[in-house]
Amino acid sequence: MCGIVAAVTRYNIINILLEGIKKLEYRGYDSSGLAVVDHKNNIIRIRCVGKVNELIKEVNKKKISGHIGMAHTRWATHGKISKENTHPHISSNIIVVHNGVINNNSILRVFLKKQGYIFYSDTDTEVIAHLLHWEQNKKKDSLQQTIRKSIKKLHGNYSMVVIDKNNPFQLIAARSGSPLVIGLGEEGNFIASDQIALLHITKRFVYLEEGDVAIVKKKEINIFNRKNFKIERKVTISNLQYKSAKKGKYSHYMEKEIYEQPISIRNTLKHYLKENNSIYFPELESKEKNIFYHAEHIQIVACGTSYNAALVSKYWFESLANIPCDVEIASEFSSRKLAVRKKSFLITLSQSGETADTLSALRYAKKLGYLGNLTICNMEGSSLVKESDFHILTQAGIEIGVASTKSFTTQLTVLLMLVAKIADFKKKYFISKKIIHSLSTLPSQIEKILKKNELIKTIANKLSNKKNILFLGRGEYYPIAIEGALKIKEIAYIHAEAYPAGELKHGPLALIDENMTVIIIAPKNLLLEKIQNNIKEICLRGGLIYVFSDQDFDCEDNVHIIKLPKVQELIAPIFYIIPLQLLAYYIALSKGKNIDQPRHLAKSVTVE
Ligand code: F6R
Repeated sequence: MCGIVAAVTRYNIINILLEGIKKLEYRGYDSSGLAVVDHKNNIIRIRCVGKVNELIKEVNKKKISGHIGMAHTRWATHGKISKENTHPHISSNIIVVHNGVINNNSILRVFLKKQGYIFYSDTDTEVIAHLLHWEQNKKKDSLQQTIRKSIKKLHGNYSMVVIDKNNPFQLIAARSGSPLVIGLGEEGNFIASDQIALLHITKRFVYLEEGDVAIVKKKEINIFNRKNFKIERKVTISNLQYKSAKKGKYSHYMEKEIYEQPISIRNTLKHYLKENNSIYFPELESKEKNIFYHAEHIQIVACGTSYNAALVSKYWFESLANIPCDVEIASEFSSRKLAVRKKSFLITLSQSGETADTLSALRYAKKLGYLGNLTICNMEGSSLVKESDFHILTQAGIEIGVASTKSFTTQLTVLLMLVAKIADFKKKYFISKKIIHSLSTLPSQIEKILKKNELIKTIANKLSNKKNILFLGRGEYYPIAIEGALKIKEIAYIHAEAYPAGELKHGPLALIDENMTVIIIAPKNLLLEKIQNNIKEICLRGGLIYVFSDQDFDCEDNVHIIKLPKVQELIAPIFYIIPLQLLAYYIALSKGKNIDQPRHLAKSVTVE
C-alpha cells in the first residue's frame, strides 16, 4: 500500500510533493515523510506520525526548498507506526521510498549488519537503502547498475524511487508489484504511485511495467525493461478531471461519492449504450462472440466490496443469461489447487485495479486454461487492466473515500449490462431489452432515495451506540446485506454480520435478544413471504428490527419499516444498497469517526 511522489524540476518542488502526497493519502495514512536534496547538496528529511497534514505543518514551519526530492505516505507492514519507521529511509548518500514487502528482509538485515550497517528502523525499506549503498560501494557502479544488481537479491515487491545525493539530477524508479507512473512536465518530470497525485501539474503519463527501471531527469526519461533493454513506453493523456478529486460542498469524500451515484451510473450507461440502445463494449466487440459465445461457465474473482458486487451478479448470470457462475475471494482462489471448469471464462472485478490479491489470482488463472479473462475496473492504466485480455472500465470517476460506494454500483451496472450482452448472444433479446430499460430508470430512482437522507439519519442516530448488528437478506439481497454490513464495520467500527435470512434458524437465531439489532432487506419479490416469517421469528425473541422494504408490514413495536419507493426488480439490488451506504455514513458521522480514512485500512491494498 503506501503512496510515493517524487519530482525533479527547475523550480522548488516542496509544494508539488506535499500536494501530491496529500492526494495519495488514501493509500495509507499511518505516517508520512519527505526528503529533498537542497541547493547546498544536503539531504533534508522531515517525517511525521499521523495524517499528511502533520507533515504539511512541519514542512511549512521549516521553509525548506529543493529541486529534487520525494515524499511517502505509509501504511505499516514492517515495523510499528513510528517516526523512525517512516519513509524516506537513508543510507549515507542513498535516499529511498518504497511500496511493497521484502520477504527476505530479515536475512538481508543480518547480512548488512555484518557489513557494519546500523539500522535505525524496523522496516524492510531501510534494508533496501543499505543494500543499495553496499552494492554501490562494492564496485563504484552507476546507481542504475546498482539497482539492477540489488533487486536481484530482493524477494517480494519493491516499487521504489531512489535518489543518490552525489548525483542529485536524477530520480531512479524501479517497479515490482505496485504501480508507478511517470508524469511528464514542461520543466521537470515526476513519479507517483497514481496519476491522481500529479494531475495538478500534468496530464501526460507514462506507466511503468513490471520489472522496468526508469531514469528520470528534468528534461529526459529513459526506461529499461526487465531484461535491461532500453524501451519506449506509450505516453497516455489522462482524461481524469482534477476537480473530481475535490470534496466540493460535501463534508466527506464518501458522502460526495454516495451522492454522485446517479451521475456515475448515467455515465457508465452512456458510455456503453449506442444510440439504438444496444450495448457496445469496445474492447470486446470484435472478439466477444468468440469468448462469451463459447463460454459455458463464468468464474469471478475479487476482494471486499468488489467481491460483494460479484456475488450479486452470480444471481443475474444464472437466472437471466442461464450461464453457471462461481465467485471466489481472490486470496483464497490463488492459494489452492483449482479444478478449472470446462470452457470457463474468468472475470476479475476491482475498483483500483491494483489489489495485490486479485492481481495474483489473475496471474495464477492465466496458467490454468481459462478461455480468457476480462477485468471490470475503475482505473484506466491500472495493473489489472494492463494484464487482462480484455477490460471494461466503470465510469465512476475517481473514488477517494476508503469505503467503496459508487464503484460498487457502477460495477453492478456493468455486470448487468454484460449479462444483457450474453443474453443477446443466446438470442434472448427480450431479456437484454428489459435489462436496458430497467437500468435506464435506475439513476432517477437513486435520486429519490438520496432525498430520504433525513429519515436514514434519524435511524443512524438510534443505532450509533449499538455493539452488534445482524444483516439479513435472501437471494441477491444476501450479498447486499453483506455489503451493508461491511460498510458499517469499516467506517462505524460496529461489529456487523450478514446472513442469508434462511440460515437464521440454523444458528444465528441464538444471538437474538433485546440487545440485538437486525437489519432486513425485504423488497417485494417471490421470497417476501419467507422473509416475513423470519421477521416474526426475530420479533418473538425481542430483537430490534429495521426492515428496508417497498411493502407495509403488519408488525409489533420492535419492528420499524423504512418504506422505500418501488423499483423494477432487476435493478432493485443496486437500489437497496444506497440506504445502507447512507446508514453507515450517518452512524460513523454521529460517532465522530474518520469516515474517509478509517483506522487500519487503505483504499488500494497492494500487498498480499
Ligand atoms: C470496501 C473496500 C474494500 C475493497 C477491496 C478491493 O469498502 O473498499 O473492501 O473493495 O479492498 O478493492 P478493489 O475493488 O480496488 O480491488
